[in-house]
Amino acid sequence: MLISMTNEIERSKNENLLEVRNLSIYFETIDKKIKILREIDLYVKRGEVVGIVGESGSGKSTLAQAIVGVLDSPPAFVENGEIIFEGERVFPTNKKFNYRGKGINMVFQEPIVSLNPVYTVRRQIEEAMDIAGIEKDKKNRDEIIKNVLKELMIRDVEKVLESYPHQLSGGMRQRVAIAISVIQRPKLIILDEPTTGLDLIVQRQIMKLLLNLKNEINTSMILITHDLTVAANMCDRIYIMYTGRIVESGPRTNIIKDPLHPYTWMLLNSVPRGYSDSGPLKVTEGSPPDISNLPPGCTFHPRCPRVMEKCRKEVPKIRKMEGEREVACWIYE
Ligand SMILES: Nc1ncnc2c1ncn2[C@@H]1O[C@H](COP(=O)(O)OP(=O)(O)O)[C@@H](O)[C@H]1O
Ligand SMILES: [Mg+2]
Repeated sequence: MLISMTNEIERSKNENLLEVRNLSIYFETIDKKIKILREIDLYVKRGEVVGIVGESGSGKSTLAQAIVGVLDSPPAFVENGEIIFEGERVFPTNKKFNYRGKGINMVFQEPIVSLNPVYTVRRQIEEAMDIAGIEKDKKNRDEIIKNVLKELMIRDVEKVLESYPHQLSGGMRQRVAIAISVIQRPKLIILDEPTTGLDLIVQRQIMKLLLNLKNEINTSMILITHDLTVAANMCDRIYIMYTGRIVESGPRTNIIKDPLHPYTWMLLNSVPRGYSDSGPLKVTEGSPPDISNLPPGCTFHPRCPRVMEKCRKEVPKIRKMEGEREVACWIYE
């Protein structure tokens, strides 16, 4: 009995923290149905940092919102698939997509979205702690708050705590949003382009602080970005998304040193090596197609330097490759 219980515990410890299985989501507008996510399969192990990289409009935020459980329905509908968190099916739940407060939280691109303009920083942090049931004692609470803010290199802690969001700089607001997120000690934090729009030095600094905090509170992270070099600096594994589909995934070093999908080649060529660019992604050859009017076959084929006849007709299925890698491209069939 004891042995089987131990095995059970061992097994659940080793399970993936998050699994997205064959997820397809569409938006229904007044005049049409647009498929946004197509057969998404991904997993996040405990303690892992996973990157999701793709150009704007590829469906990254929609995927993040589905995982966190804040996708509005309507307009979003699930066509197929499920999301498993800690071995439990959390999506889709009955009719609602909303299942907040289960150990997943999200930091948005623009912290104004997650911060309340009429409350001070202190009040918002305290509310987050109330929701997560973290430390009721006033004195201990104060200490936890101050420590987290200091970890995030916020120097004038008292002043920041009594400020309203609009009184802070963009970089400072993003730090506060991150503080609110980590102070709840979630099992998974999803960061949706958390530093886009901030200057390069602040971006790097925030990323570094995040990785430190991640190790300290032992949380898993999903980092969403349009910048492959940012993901390469931060993540253990990376998923490349194109027009709502995962086209390649694998450990970061493989993706960077030996990318398989021509789209990943393109992303790598477009970003100067060694530093990240805060501007939009510079893909040289054309731009992504309109998601409501996708080309037939592989949706990347109009931009692909290795296009073959088959690519214009048939969608390549994602296939497993050696070493935890996968790719959806006819070159490898
Ligand atoms: N509420 C919505 N209704 C209809 N279409 C939407 C809605 N939200 C996003 N979309 C569309 O879904 C696609 C993917 O958007 P998004 O997930 O925000 O991509 P990304 O985060 O990669 O830029 C875009 O074409 C966008 O126009
Ligand atoms: Mg987005």
